Amino acid sequence: MINSIRILRNEINTPTVNSLYFHWDAMVEPGQFVMVWVPGISEIPMSLSLTGKEKCLTVKKYGDTSNALSKVEPGERIFFRGPYGKPFTRVKGKTLLVGGGSGMASLRPLIDKNASGVVAARSSDELLFKELFAKDRITVATDDGSEGIKGNIVDAMREIELEAFEMIYVCGPERMIKSIVDFVSVRKINMELSLERNMKCGIGICDSCSIDGFQLCTDGPTFNLSTVLTMKEFGRTKLAESGKRIWF
Ligand code: FES
Repeated sequence: MINSIRILRNEINTPTVNSLYFHWDAMVEPGQFVMVWVPGISEIPMSLSLTGKEKCLTVKKYGDTSNALSKVEPGERIFFRGPYGKPFTRVKGKTLLVGGGSGMASLRPLIDKNASGVVAARSSDELLFKELFAKDRITVATDDGSEGIKGNIVDAMREIELEAFEMIYVCGPERMIKSIVDFVSVRKINMELSLERNMKCGIGICDSCSIDGFQLCTDGPTFNLSTVLTMKEFGRTKLAESGKRIWF
């Protein structure tokens, strides 16, 4: 079923990211996604960046569909189906949310009084949702050094005692996640990662999202660290729109 929902407000978060807020009376867990359809253009997967009574889709402008979506005005409708996918596992105790680029969008519903954050971006103006964390619970890294640590997300994680957290949740571009997985691979930590791939059906039929026999749309998009460590294609290949496998 396609949901048709009116947007309440469209908030600018960074020069390339907007958030669309709306009411949708459906049960959604952090980490799940919907397939958003923009008539006449295409359909793309998006994780919810708020999952309570008020919901939110946070849009990174990177193509025709997301560009059109980012321009939706209050009162206009958006269309989507779902929710789909496996949510993050919730835990009691201290959590660390690690988001690069627009990755903090799908982690935002996990921000609470027990959460600390690591937010990384190319530059200060692209840091997403860092203001939602308490000032003493946020570590920032930027590629150009305009804010926080000058370096990448792993450089920021080196500053933190990762073993102190009950769970570490990660979301971001695949190469960034690969660098995190390589960094923590032999450490004894609980980590869940939200992966991204091309998705067409979102329900386990088309195989466009497959990686090492896992289908991201039904087996994921969230996976624990030990499962990601078994994925030989992770961080090395992706499927093109045509279905052809491309090596990075
Ligand atoms: S998107 Fe079609 S199988 Fe996952």
